[in-house]
Amino acid sequence: MGTALRRFWIPVLLSEEVPVPDCEPIAIRILGEDLVAFKDTNGKVGLIDAYCAHRHAHLYWTRNEENGLRCTYHGWKYDTEGNCVDMPNEPAESNFKDKIKITAYPTREWGGVVWAYMGPVEHMPPELPQFEWARVPEEHRIATKRLQESNWAQAVEGGIDSSHVSFLHSSLNQAQTGMITGVPAQAVAPGNASNPSFAQQGRTMALDKSPRFWIGHRDFGFLAAARRNAGEDKYYWRITPYLAPWYTIIPGGGQEGSSLSGHAWVPVDDEHVWTFTFTWNPTRPLTPEEHATHMQGFGVHTEVDKNLPRWDLKISNSYKPIRNMDNNYMVDYEERRKRTFTGIKGISEQDMSIQESMWPIVPRWREHLGTTDKAIIEFRKLVMGMARDLLEGVEPEFPHTPDAYRVRSAAITISRDVPWEEGSAEVVKAKV
Ligand code: FES
Ligand SMILES: [Fe+2]
Repeated sequence: MGTALRRFWIPVLLSEEVPVPDCEPIAIRILGEDLVAFKDTNGKVGLIDAYCAHRHAHLYWTRNEENGLRCTYHGWKYDTEGNCVDMPNEPAESNFKDKIKITAYPTREWGGVVWAYMGPVEHMPPELPQFEWARVPEEHRIATKRLQESNWAQAVEGGIDSSHVSFLHSSLNQAQTGMITGVPAQAVAPGNASNPSFAQQGRTMALDKSPRFWIGHRDFGFLAAARRNAGEDKYYWRITPYLAPWYTIIPGGGQEGSSLSGHAWVPVDDEHVWTFTFTWNPTRPLTPEEHATHMQGFGVHTEVDKNLPRWDLKISNSYKPIRNMDNNYMVDYEERRKRTFTGIKGISEQDMSIQESMWPIVPRWREHLGTTDKAIIEFRKLVMGMARDLLEGVEPEFPHTPDAYRVRSAAITISRDVPWEEGSAEVVKAKV
């Protein structure tokens, strides 16, 4: 699977982690590989092997100086290409340094994210996937991340599972108030506060808890469409794009001026995942109030401790959630009895509490999939198919269709006689 995932450009860091030239390096693990990221004097981001070629010192403990990282053990220095450019503890006439090169991956910085390509150079896609969240101006976007203690696939499966929304994220009185997860509508979906149908969506999800699912295959992956009854003659459709290999967009938007949110789930290793979360408004900058609401952890962005190291994973800045497994996600049992389904604050923390509980890798032989698990089955078929094809020498096409990624989710109510693909066709097109 890792070989297939390496055919894609990968979001590896937030830009804020390497903010300025010659900033401090970052120790990070991606796809089971220990790496160090840094921004050199010219502003180029390097992503190189974490270990010094001399005697294996971790290169987090380096000095970032004049276009390279200098190991603090004996002074060997590496540039963003992984070349050893200085070896001050060897005789001046020695050419030993010219024989030393460590792994280095090509990077790009775009959309608030540092991207890396970790596959064979001959298969490197020339363009990054054209997500709307990356294409909008910086002031229109919030990009955050957190560390989750589970395999990446069960995290993606949570993102395309529309059925759980009527339970995990619900309030006990939701059928009356429409209030999802016990917090005000504007905290769940800033930008949508003035949308009168938002509470109605909450009520609809509370009243019809067994959505029917349809799948529409696309050049980016698929659309998972979940249908709920919404009165006599209408259906409420929540349409979630799954974009290969690990992106989802949360159903929402569709109204002029509203914001959208989405995720990228990038494997740290088999049992940990970087969860990137993006919120963007296609038409206007996000207001300071919207920023503040998002960062308070009510919605899909998580409150984290950015700087806490996790040296057991060789990670210097873990972005560990404040409400996490070690403190029972700060569950409030009184809240659970009286107001919300889980008693846990934050939509992401609610997801995390469940996804981390399923064992680090879900024992899938113990599952019993039902009719609402259609999207989960499609996801498994798609990624396993991609990995199997590659073993036969068939390259995945997804990394080479960057414009196909210009897509949005939808949360719309349409007449029962209109097919969902027709009724949502315009809404699911990105406009930026
Ligand atoms: S271990 Fe890095 S220079 Fe010796
Ligand atoms: Fe969820």
